[in-house]
Amino acid sequence: MKAVWFERFGPAAEVLILGDMPDPKPGPGEVLVRVRASGVNPSDVKLRAGARPGAEMPFPRVVPHSDGAGEIVAVGKGVPREIGERVWIWNGQWQRAQGTCAELIAVPSEQAVRLPDSTGFEEGACLGIPAMTAWYALHADGPIADQTVLVTGGAGTVGRYACQMAALSGARVITTVSSAMKAAHSGAQEWVNYRDTDVTEAVMDLTGGQGVDRIVDVDFGANQAANLALIKPGGTIASYASASDMAPTLQFYPFMFKNVTLRMLIIYLLEAETRRRGEAQLTEWLEKGALSHAVVSGGGLPDAARAHDRVASGEKLGSVVLSL
Ligand SMILES: NC(=O)c1ccc[n+]([C@@H]2O[C@H](COP(=O)([O-])OP(=O)(O)OC[C@H]3O[C@@H](n4cnc5c(N)ncnc54)[C@H](OP(=O)(O)O)[C@@H]3O)[C@@H](O)[C@H]2O)c1
Repeated sequence: MKAVWFERFGPAAEVLILGDMPDPKPGPGEVLVRVRASGVNPSDVKLRAGARPGAEMPFPRVVPHSDGAGEIVAVGKGVPREIGERVWIWNGQWQRAQGTCAELIAVPSEQAVRLPDSTGFEEGACLGIPAMTAWYALHADGPIADQTVLVTGGAGTVGRYACQMAALSGARVITTVSSAMKAAHSGAQEWVNYRDTDVTEAVMDLTGGQGVDRIVDVDFGANQAANLALIKPGGTIASYASASDMAPTLQFYPFMFKNVTLRMLIIYLLEAETRRRGEAQLTEWLEKGALSHAVVSGGGLPDAARAHDRVASGEKLGSVVLSL
């Protein structure tokens, strides 16, 4: 099969290699998927760049990308799945040598989730990380109906799904963005430009001085002070990144005296029952056509390096997806 891989960390154009590899075979409990779309996430880019703290090559050769979608073309012993079933993949490369940046991938059957017929493969390649992270950040700590949710960074891949899912779940959504164009992209009705506005003041105004019940947060370090001011007593802040300050100083007592729950989440490690719940909810929304997906075409396998650079630059609105 054709695949893209790297054998050392470094700039995408220098270390990503397109070549031929032996076809993987599905082991017991696995399915073999012909990949039709491969999603590129910041996490894939950071791994390849060696940007994770204390990073070492996890395997001598890594085929990147955890998200993808395609069709089952073979099954391992005892796997009751149909050949031809359309699926989306989660954790394709997470702690594994072979991800979705290849024509074929063998994964444990549960990591290939049925993709409704009405959802395209490119859209399916946005579900594993962006959509599931949004769902988990919103729903890990109980129902959100009738609550006010602040989604920081509503134009990001996760943030945009979070805005939609919060509204679909019956919450009032306020988001922060860096321009009116990004506000429109987020789809949220209520927004604040975090670059030129005092977010605390603006959100307090919008909420009549009450603050918010939940925060889905894209940058813990950058937003800690505003989030602390805005979260209601007993509220929950679910942070999925802190890229601007990877070791922020935690305001422990101010959070404690508001009885705040801080959730630092990593989507790769969802426990099975929670993940099933999230998958069921995504499937229901997908079948109803309730979710809008922002797909940015990244080209094909030969364009993988450019796609990585595009994700690293942040200069894109949506998930960069390679089509195979
Ligand atoms: N923990 C997990 O499981 C998990 C899952 C998914 C992603 N992540 C991480 O989350 C981060 C974002 O991923 P992504 O795919 O959503 O990236 P993305 O599509 O590039 O979006 C990032 C968004 O965050 C916004 N932003 C940045 N700083 C902000 C701030 N201080 N306040 C409000 N908004 C801010 C940006 O807005 P502007 O460009 O307009 O400033 C941009 O819209 C990455 O570091 C990624 O690795 C973690």
